[in-house]
Amino acid sequence: MKIELLKEVDSTNIYIKKYLDGREDVIVCAERQSGGRGTKGRSFLSENGGVYLSELKFYENIAASDAFMIMARAAVAVCKTAERFGAFPEIKWPNDVLIDGKKLAGILIENIFSDGHVKASVVGIGLNVFNDLSGLEDIAISLLETTGLPLEVAVVRDMLIEMLQVEFTFEDYLSRVRFLGKEINILENEKKYRATARQILSDGRLEVEVDGELHILSAAEISIRF
Ligand code: BTN
Repeated sequence: MKIELLKEVDSTNIYIKKYLDGREDVIVCAERQSGGRGTKGRSFLSENGGVYLSELKFYENIAASDAFMIMARAAVAVCKTAERFGAFPEIKWPNDVLIDGKKLAGILIENIFSDGHVKASVVGIGLNVFNDLSGLEDIAISLLETTGLPLEVAVVRDMLIEMLQVEFTFEDYLSRVRFLGKEINILENEKKYRATARQILSDGRLEVEVDGELHILSAAEISIRF
């Protein structure tokens, strides 16, 4: 697999798409992004001191209905990386990686579908190592804040690349989701309600219980708060 290291780029997720015409898996890392992209059209602060990485992977035989496993694999790889350095994040469904309720890492996945299958996917990961999170103290956290260790970005980056190659199971994902069985707040369009989180299905949908009734919700339609 080809690995490309850049000093600066607008967004590794955008840059890596130039490799879509090839067939080789690629990872692109940048020390800084000038236009880092987040989910839901948001931007993602990407100053020096974080790992900013995109992985382009081609698939032969993944049904579109199994695309959630790509997301789960990325979240687990980030958690396993943090764990190697003594930090123990949780996964906030579907794929935010949190410590003390604050974001340690964000994941942006862009899948390319054809004939009911995932043909390729771009997995973009931004992981806070010691980057300046001023102004975001209430919502973001770094490995340095968590562990007190002066970690080098390159060491964390290489560990993340290694963890992305490791086989994972759905149980690896579920074991890091800590809200199952607990009350959560659900935001669905303009509607807000409380529910008990019951389980995450293998297609990534969340089953919740409201007033004794089970409902199955998709991450595209709702957001959750603890
Ligand atoms: C989110 O939490 O909203 C997702 C953030 C994803 C950020 C990563 S950093 C590497 C890759 N390049 C981008 O522009 N975004 C992703």
